[in-house]
Amino acid sequence: MAYNNTITTRSLGTASEGIKDQYADGKAAKIWEIFVGDKNSRTQNYKNFLVGLLKRKGCKRILDVACGTGIDSILLLEEGFEVVSVDASDKMLKYALKSRWNRRKEPAFDNWIIEEANWLTLYDDIEHIVGNGFDAVICLGNSFAHMLDNFGDQREQKQALRNFEKCVKPGGLLLIDHRNYDNIIDSGNTASKCIYYNSEHTTDIKTSVLFVGGRPALVTLDYLIDTSSHDDEKTDIIYPEDSISEFRLSYYPHRLKVFTTMLMEAFGENSDFKLYGDFKKLEEIEIPDFYIHVVEKSSTFFSS
Ligand SMILES: C[S@@+](CC[C@H](N)C(=O)[O-])C[C@H]1O[C@@H](n2cnc3c(N)ncnc32)[C@H](O)[C@@H]1O
Repeated sequence: MAYNNTITTRSLGTASEGIKDQYADGKAAKIWEIFVGDKNSRTQNYKNFLVGLLKRKGCKRILDVACGTGIDSILLLEEGFEVVSVDASDKMLKYALKSRWNRRKEPAFDNWIIEEANWLTLYDDIEHIVGNGFDAVICLGNSFAHMLDNFGDQREQKQALRNFEKCVKPGGLLLIDHRNYDNIIDSGNTASKCIYYNSEHTTDIKTSVLFVGGRPALVTLDYLIDTSSHDDEKTDIIYPEDSISEFRLSYYPHRLKVFTTMLMEAFGENSDFKLYGDFKKLEEIEIPDFYIHVVEKSSTFFSS
């Protein structure tokens, strides 16, 4: 059922120039780790998939291009990977920087590189760190869908994917995901608990789909999280004073077919493309909440 609401894509405090940081008011950043749930492991099959694949492929140096508060990056650091983390939102990065400081005595955290960067200029922003390319680039947690289509031809999304490709070494991997927007558009509903988000608190997501010229152009999710009951002893999370937290995020509703084509254009047909649903093989799952694309960049691909 579509939710009738006024669409506001920008949160208060967002600059009118430059990249639109939907996390600029700090509301989502403050509650993000509570929403994600079990911070140490997210869900076990998520961790098993990610860590298992990266180890099997011999990856050591990982670039997390949407590190947010640092959840995936920390998981990988704890598993022995060398991690470089970037994000465009200083409000989100603040939490990653705090974790790095708190654990600075651990060599992995002391060496953890965290930079502010925007996907549109990513390669130029971090060229000095990219070197011959990362063994793997990850863009997870429905992050890529934050990039809206400002020109109606997806040119910015294509540019961002090209930048990701430039950061992957030949033969390296890109792991990128998005919610199952085909299903969200058809059903008008969004799952609040899934492989990524596993909060013990009551969570509700209201879904609005905006159609422009008969085509779905924007999905707005209103998140409501009830933290009235929690166990302080169990976690180092600082709970907000208000027991009900609300925040709104807007996304570009990627159709699976179109997104896959964009990925192929960015990485070239000689690369290898695999698709998973909720980190499982597609035949094992009827309607996934998330699609995860794993691209193995051709070792002979030369980008322009
Ligand atoms: C949904 S959060 C996910 C964070 C983390 N991967 C996780 O799953 O918890 C999405 C992140 O993408 C970042 N982001 C959105 N657009 C971006 C852009 N153009 N360049 C860099 N980061 C961006 C946001 O600032 C935000 O921290």
